[in-house]
Amino acid sequence: MVQVFDTTLRDGEQAPGGGMAGTAKLAVARQLARLGVDVVEAGFPSASAAEFEAVGAIAAEFRERGPVVCGMARATAADIDRCALAVTRAARPRIHTFLATSDIHLQHKLHITRSEALRTVAAMVRQARRRVAEVQFSPEDATRSAPAFLLAVLDEAVAAGASILNIPDTVGYATPEEYGALLLTVVERYGSAVTVSAHCHDDLGLAVANSLAAVGSGARQVECTINGIGERAGNAALEEVVMALRTRRDRLGLDTAIDATGLVRTSRMVERLTRIRVPPNKAVVGKNAFAHQSGIHQAGVLEHRATYEIMRRESVGFEGESIVLGKLSGRHALKARLLGIGVPVGDALVNRLFPRFKALANTKRRVSDTDLERLVASERGLTSLEGGANAR
Ligand code: KIV
Ligand code: ZN
Repeated sequence: MVQVFDTTLRDGEQAPGGGMAGTAKLAVARQLARLGVDVVEAGFPSASAAEFEAVGAIAAEFRERGPVVCGMARATAADIDRCALAVTRAARPRIHTFLATSDIHLQHKLHITRSEALRTVAAMVRQARRRVAEVQFSPEDATRSAPAFLLAVLDEAVAAGASILNIPDTVGYATPEEYGALLLTVVERYGSAVTVSAHCHDDLGLAVANSLAAVGSGARQVECTINGIGERAGNAALEEVVMALRTRRDRLGLDTAIDATGLVRTSRMVERLTRIRVPPNKAVVGKNAFAHQSGIHQAGVLEHRATYEIMRRESVGFEGESIVLGKLSGRHALKARLLGIGVPVGDALVNRLFPRFKALANTKRRVSDTDLERLVASERGLTSLEGGANAR
């Protein structure tokens, strides 16, 4: 199994304008637990008093059972202690501490040498390990770090007690081949002593592909967010990673514990609470993700869904119709929708209605069920036919 580490409430909240109140964060955490995520990264307790409270409330919510509750901490004693205090009430608390390892970050952001970074990681992971049993370490900007130095840092973290190594592609720079190769090096170096985790940003649109490459290399935790929200272009989208693994299990042979029927509901909740809109064409959860518009596609799907659907819309929690009636729709789709809304319709009626349906469809983007009912009523008026007689 691949563990799903959801960071909607930490990295996702870092999306510009995506902040949530503490009560909203708690509601999302509950929904994530219902969805079946393995780890909830609840926030960054040192960021503010409110954030500390929010992480504490989420930890208390899962004091007996539920997902691991993780808090993020910079590699400083103050951050780690604050984080430990916030997550302590959870049944399974985790501290996630990080330090940048690329020369760009060391020189221009942290202003420390590589040796100082090595010492800091060793000391801070040890400190976190004194506070909780489960410590995750991330070398920020791992994919732009010198490989030998990156491995030296990871060695320190593991020796100091980190049992999860998360390898962030912080700026979404890696390609799938590169990222997969890097993760393979880490997996092979530490074997089963450590869980290796993927954390991918989407600056080049590769976050999900990179995450899957990591799983292919042996990573057994994937960090992701609902709707892919996060810093800049966002993080790997949870719903996409989960459905890619499930739909293409034939390739990777792995799955997650996610109840996919809750994906759409969770997506809508996060959309509402963060006010970050989900694009209609967003994979898996966008409102058009399973909608068919052209006549050829509609006829195919009505004949056999597998012609144009690789997943079942119900399996991710969509309800209702997938056929969008518009100017490209054909008679097949019109008839199917009429039957779907309870109009007993035969080919003769469809043929009579079709020109008027097309004329209407040319004036609006979508022909609704109400529009169809009106069309049928007026056709009945025109022909003075009633009830079952219309079925001809
Ligand atoms: O992208 C990143 O590097 C992160 C952390 C894991 C530090 O979000
Ligand atoms: Zn990140």
